[in-house]
Amino acid sequence: MTSPHARRPIVAANWKMNTGPDDGAELARSVAAQDLPFAQVDVVLCPPATGVAAVAAAVRSTPVAVGAQHVFWEASGAYTGEISVPMLAGLATYAIAGHSERRQLFGETDLDVQRKTLAILSGGLTPIVAVGESLDQRDAGETLGVLRSQVRRVFEALTPAETAACVIAYEPVWAIGTGRNATPEQAQEAIGWIRDIVAATHGQPAANQIRVQYGGSVSPENCEELLSREGIDGALVGGASLDAAKFAAIVRAAAP
Ligand code: PGA
Repeated sequence: MTSPHARRPIVAANWKMNTGPDDGAELARSVAAQDLPFAQVDVVLCPPATGVAAVAAAVRSTPVAVGAQHVFWEASGAYTGEISVPMLAGLATYAIAGHSERRQLFGETDLDVQRKTLAILSGGLTPIVAVGESLDQRDAGETLGVLRSQVRRVFEALTPAETAACVIAYEPVWAIGTGRNATPEQAQEAIGWIRDIVAATHGQPAANQIRVQYGGSVSPENCEELLSREGIDGALVGGASLDAAKFAAIVRAAAP
């Protein structure tokens, strides 16, 4: 039986639409220079597309990994403005799919997220699949149902082994960029539900293996109590990740 502690925590920085190549590389260098528990925690930086190559070069000889914030599922062709998974070869080893900003502002559906997740996996990268409920949905008691439908739809085309290789980021929409994080109890409960859903659809071994992060207003002030909870395998960090020292504090809090 896999113990919960067998999962390696992962802390990812989502810089969103901030930084260009030069200041992004600078921020990446200062993250890599922090005293971080690299032996115990996977550390990932997700710059905007124009910064991916510069950030990858800046962290090349360090344990810091690079992720893309967004990809399209086709490999190449007439898709103006899009970036494919093969175009990230040698630069990134992770890619986010289904971030709530992509879902809300750019109309991404669960089916889109499923296609992206499959493309990310088939390109040999690790998907970070974001799911989460809105405030209205939480207030209406619909959180479990929303998570069930998002997780089922995204993962129904994946095998148990593919599912186990993914990272899920539980990000309640009401907690993103609002300064109002989920309580450790709320995050742990929702992540427990996500693992139960994966167990029901893909079996208990996949549910034991898949890493599930929490995201939404994670900060140096609240990271200890969130990340010390069993079942919360790290964090996806927006605002606080633009400050190397703050991000480093969160990475340290994720170490077992
Ligand atoms: P936040 O963003 O930490 O600024 O709330 C988290 C995210 O959107 O991944």
